[in-house]
Amino acid sequence: MTQGAQGLEQETPLILLREVKNSDLPIFFEQQLDSTANYMAAFTRKDPTDRESFDAHWTKILADETIPIKTILFEGQVAGSILSYIQFGEREVSYWLGKEFWGKGIATKALSEFLAELEERPLHARAAKDNIASIRVLKKCGFVVSGHDQGFANARGQEIEEVIMILE
Ligand SMILES: CC(C)(COP(=O)(O)OP(=O)(O)OC[C@H]1O[C@@H](n2cnc3c(N)ncnc32)[C@H](O)[C@@H]1OP(=O)(O)O)[C@@H](O)C(=O)NCCC(=O)NCCS
Repeated sequence: MTQGAQGLEQETPLILLREVKNSDLPIFFEQQLDSTANYMAAFTRKDPTDRESFDAHWTKILADETIPIKTILFEGQVAGSILSYIQFGEREVSYWLGKEFWGKGIATKALSEFLAELEERPLHARAAKDNIASIRVLKKCGFVVSGHDQGFANARGQEIEEVIMILE
Protein backbone atom coordinates (compact mmCIF):
# COMPACT_ATOMS: atom_id res chain seq x y z
CA MET A 1 0.00 0.00 0.00
CA THR A 2 1.30 3.47 -0.79
CA GLN A 3 1.92 5.43 2.41
CA GLY A 4 2.27 8.91 1.00
CA ALA A 5 2.39 10.66 4.38
CA GLN A 6 5.58 8.85 5.35
CA GLY A 7 6.88 8.93 1.79
CA LEU A 8 7.00 5.13 1.70
CA GLU A 9 6.05 3.76 -1.71
CA GLN A 10 4.77 0.23 -2.15
CA GLU A 11 7.42 -1.91 -3.78
CA THR A 12 6.51 -3.41 -7.14
CA PRO A 13 5.85 -7.08 -6.42
CA LEU A 14 7.87 -9.72 -8.24
CA ILE A 15 5.35 -11.75 -10.12
CA LEU A 16 5.43 -14.24 -12.96
CA LEU A 17 2.71 -15.07 -15.48
CA ARG A 18 2.87 -18.65 -16.70
CA GLU A 19 0.63 -21.15 -18.48
CA VAL A 20 -2.07 -22.69 -16.28
CA LYS A 21 -1.28 -26.16 -14.93
CA ASN A 22 -3.95 -28.65 -13.88
CA SER A 23 -2.56 -28.49 -10.35
CA ASP A 24 -3.53 -24.78 -10.22
CA LEU A 25 -7.23 -25.55 -10.61
CA PRO A 26 -7.96 -26.70 -7.04
CA ILE A 27 -6.28 -23.49 -5.83
CA PHE A 28 -8.37 -21.32 -8.18
CA PHE A 29 -11.45 -23.19 -6.97
CA GLU A 30 -10.69 -22.34 -3.33
CA GLN A 31 -9.89 -18.74 -4.25
CA GLN A 32 -13.22 -18.24 -6.02
CA LEU A 33 -15.18 -19.50 -2.99
CA ASP A 34 -14.36 -16.45 -0.89
CA SER A 35 -17.52 -14.51 -0.07
CA THR A 36 -15.89 -11.04 -0.01
CA ALA A 37 -14.31 -11.69 -3.40
CA ASN A 38 -17.65 -12.87 -4.76
CA TYR A 39 -19.40 -9.75 -3.54
CA MET A 40 -16.74 -7.56 -5.17
CA ALA A 41 -16.68 -9.40 -8.48
CA ALA A 42 -20.51 -9.64 -8.37
CA PHE A 43 -20.90 -11.07 -11.88
CA THR A 44 -19.82 -14.53 -10.85
CA ARG A 45 -20.81 -18.08 -11.70
CA LYS A 46 -24.23 -19.09 -10.37
CA ASP A 47 -22.90 -21.49 -7.74
CA PRO A 48 -19.19 -21.13 -6.89
CA THR A 49 -19.36 -24.27 -4.71
CA ASP A 50 -20.29 -26.46 -7.70
CA ARG A 51 -16.96 -28.18 -8.45
CA GLU A 52 -18.24 -30.06 -11.48
CA SER A 53 -19.44 -26.91 -13.15
CA PHE A 54 -16.15 -25.18 -12.24
CA ASP A 55 -14.13 -28.02 -13.78
CA ALA A 56 -16.29 -28.06 -16.93
CA HIS A 57 -15.87 -24.29 -17.29
CA TRP A 58 -12.08 -24.44 -16.92
CA THR A 59 -11.75 -27.40 -19.28
CA LYS A 60 -13.67 -25.38 -21.87
CA ILE A 61 -11.78 -22.10 -21.51
CA LEU A 62 -8.35 -23.76 -21.37
CA ALA A 63 -9.09 -25.52 -24.67
CA ASP A 64 -10.23 -22.29 -26.37
CA GLU A 65 -7.39 -20.72 -28.37
CA THR A 66 -9.16 -17.35 -28.42
CA ILE A 67 -8.87 -17.14 -24.62
CA PRO A 68 -5.38 -16.32 -23.33
CA ILE A 69 -5.20 -17.32 -19.65
CA LYS A 70 -2.28 -17.12 -17.27
CA THR A 71 -1.59 -18.19 -13.73
CA ILE A 72 -0.21 -15.37 -11.60
CA LEU A 73 2.69 -16.51 -9.42
CA PHE A 74 3.88 -14.41 -6.49
CA GLU A 75 7.00 -15.63 -4.70
CA GLY A 76 6.41 -19.02 -6.31
CA GLN A 77 2.86 -19.31 -5.00
CA VAL A 78 -0.28 -19.44 -7.14
CA ALA A 79 -1.77 -16.02 -6.41
CA GLY A 80 -4.59 -16.14 -8.97
CA SER A 81 -5.44 -16.02 -12.64
CA ILE A 82 -5.84 -13.50 -15.43
CA LEU A 83 -7.56 -13.96 -18.77
CA SER A 84 -9.07 -12.33 -21.82
CA TYR A 85 -12.18 -13.43 -23.69
CA ILE A 86 -14.75 -12.12 -26.13
CA GLN A 87 -18.01 -10.94 -24.58
CA PHE A 88 -20.72 -8.96 -26.39
CA GLY A 89 -18.40 -8.95 -29.42
CA GLU A 90 -15.62 -7.18 -27.54
CA ARG A 91 -12.36 -8.47 -26.05
CA GLU A 92 -12.41 -8.14 -22.28
CA VAL A 93 -9.88 -8.79 -19.55
CA SER A 94 -10.56 -10.17 -16.09
CA TYR A 95 -8.60 -11.45 -13.08
CA TRP A 96 -9.06 -12.97 -9.66
CA LEU A 97 -6.61 -13.21 -6.76
CA GLY A 98 -6.72 -15.28 -3.60
CA LYS A 99 -7.56 -12.96 -0.72
CA GLU A 100 -4.23 -13.48 1.06
CA PHE A 101 -2.54 -11.85 -1.97
CA TRP A 102 -4.62 -8.66 -2.03
CA GLY A 103 -3.19 -5.21 -1.35
CA LYS A 104 0.37 -5.90 -2.55
CA GLY A 105 0.09 -4.42 -6.05
CA ILE A 106 -0.04 -7.91 -7.59
CA ALA A 107 -3.15 -7.35 -9.75
CA THR A 108 -1.77 -4.09 -11.16
CA LYS A 109 1.56 -5.72 -12.03
CA ALA A 110 -0.10 -8.84 -13.44
CA LEU A 111 -2.47 -6.83 -15.63
CA SER A 112 0.29 -4.59 -16.96
CA GLU A 113 2.41 -7.65 -17.89
CA PHE A 114 -0.61 -9.39 -19.42
CA LEU A 115 -1.46 -6.29 -21.48
CA ALA A 116 2.10 -6.22 -22.83
CA GLU A 117 1.53 -9.77 -24.16
CA LEU A 118 -1.82 -8.93 -25.81
CA GLU A 119 -1.56 -7.09 -29.11
CA GLU A 120 -5.27 -6.50 -29.66
CA ARG A 121 -6.76 -3.07 -28.94
CA PRO A 122 -9.16 -1.79 -27.88
CA LEU A 123 -9.56 -3.96 -24.81
CA HIS A 124 -12.54 -3.71 -22.51
CA ALA A 125 -13.32 -4.55 -18.90
CA ARG A 126 -16.38 -4.49 -16.71
CA ALA A 127 -16.55 -4.09 -12.94
CA ALA A 128 -19.33 -3.61 -10.42
CA LYS A 129 -19.57 0.13 -9.86
CA ASP A 130 -18.53 -0.34 -6.22
CA ASN A 131 -15.56 -2.64 -6.99
CA ILE A 132 -13.17 0.21 -6.25
CA ALA A 133 -10.10 -2.07 -6.18
CA SER A 134 -10.69 -3.50 -9.63
CA ILE A 135 -11.54 -0.11 -11.16
CA ARG A 136 -8.35 1.28 -9.64
CA VAL A 137 -6.29 -1.61 -11.06
CA LEU A 138 -7.74 -0.92 -14.52
CA LYS A 139 -7.16 2.84 -14.30
CA LYS A 140 -3.56 2.32 -13.18
CA CYS A 141 -3.07 0.21 -16.32
CA GLY A 142 -4.47 2.89 -18.62
CA PHE A 143 -8.14 1.95 -18.91
CA VAL A 144 -10.69 4.77 -18.87
CA VAL A 145 -14.42 4.67 -18.20
CA SER A 146 -16.36 4.33 -21.44
CA GLY A 147 -19.85 3.78 -20.10
CA HIS A 148 -22.19 2.22 -17.58
CA ASP A 149 -24.54 -0.71 -17.73
CA GLN A 150 -26.85 -2.72 -15.51
CA GLY A 151 -26.63 -6.44 -15.16
CA PHE A 152 -27.80 -9.27 -12.95
CA ALA A 153 -25.12 -10.05 -10.39
CA ASN A 154 -25.32 -13.71 -9.35
CA ALA A 155 -23.26 -13.07 -6.22
CA ARG A 156 -25.74 -10.44 -5.04
CA GLY A 157 -28.99 -11.87 -6.38
CA GLN A 158 -29.97 -8.59 -7.98
CA GLU A 159 -29.37 -6.18 -10.84
CA ILE A 160 -26.52 -3.80 -10.12
CA GLU A 161 -24.71 -1.03 -11.92
CA GLU A 162 -21.46 -1.80 -13.64
CA VAL A 163 -18.73 0.36 -15.08
CA ILE A 164 -17.46 -0.38 -18.58
CA MET A 165 -13.83 0.52 -19.23
CA ILE A 166 -11.70 0.66 -22.35
CA LEU A 167 -8.00 0.64 -23.21
CA GLU A 168 -7.38 2.06 -26.69
C1 LIG B 1 -9.70 -6.65 -7.47
C2 LIG B 1 -8.42 -7.38 -7.09
C3 LIG B 1 -7.91 -8.16 -8.30
C4 LIG B 1 -7.38 -6.32 -6.68
O1 LIG B 1 -6.14 -7.00 -6.49
P1 LIG B 1 -4.91 -6.34 -5.68
O2 LIG B 1 -3.69 -7.09 -6.05
O3 LIG B 1 -5.27 -6.27 -4.24
O4 LIG B 1 -4.85 -4.89 -6.30
P2 LIG B 1 -3.56 -3.93 -6.19
O5 LIG B 1 -2.81 -4.27 -4.94
O6 LIG B 1 -2.84 -3.98 -7.50
O7 LIG B 1 -4.24 -2.52 -5.92
C5 LIG B 1 -4.61 -1.65 -6.95
C6 LIG B 1 -5.19 -0.39 -6.35
O8 LIG B 1 -6.45 -0.69 -5.73
C7 LIG B 1 -6.45 -0.24 -4.38
N1 LIG B 1 -7.23 -1.21 -3.62
C8 LIG B 1 -6.97 -2.52 -3.45
N2 LIG B 1 -7.93 -3.08 -2.69
C9 LIG B 1 -8.80 -2.08 -2.38
C10 LIG B 1 -10.01 -2.04 -1.66
N3 LIG B 1 -10.53 -3.14 -1.09
N4 LIG B 1 -10.66 -0.85 -1.57
C11 LIG B 1 -10.15 0.24 -2.16
N5 LIG B 1 -9.02 0.26 -2.89
C12 LIG B 1 -8.35 -0.89 -2.99
C13 LIG B 1 -4.99 -0.24 -3.98
O9 LIG B 1 -4.78 0.65 -2.91
C14 LIG B 1 -4.33 0.22 -5.26
O10 LIG B 1 -4.48 1.60 -5.45
P3 LIG B 1 -3.26 2.64 -5.13
O11 LIG B 1 -2.10 2.15 -5.91
O12 LIG B 1 -3.82 3.94 -5.56
O13 LIG B 1 -3.03 2.54 -3.66
C15 LIG B 1 -8.63 -8.38 -5.91
O14 LIG B 1 -9.20 -7.67 -4.84
C16 LIG B 1 -9.56 -9.52 -6.26
O15 LIG B 1 -9.14 -10.54 -6.82
N6 LIG B 1 -10.88 -9.37 -5.93
C17 LIG B 1 -11.88 -10.43 -6.18
C18 LIG B 1 -12.15 -10.69 -7.65
C19 LIG B 1 -12.45 -9.43 -8.45
O16 LIG B 1 -13.08 -8.49 -7.98
N7 LIG B 1 -11.97 -9.45 -9.70
C20 LIG B 1 -12.22 -8.36 -10.63
C21 LIG B 1 -13.55 -8.54 -11.30
S1 LIG B 1 -13.98 -7.10 -12.27
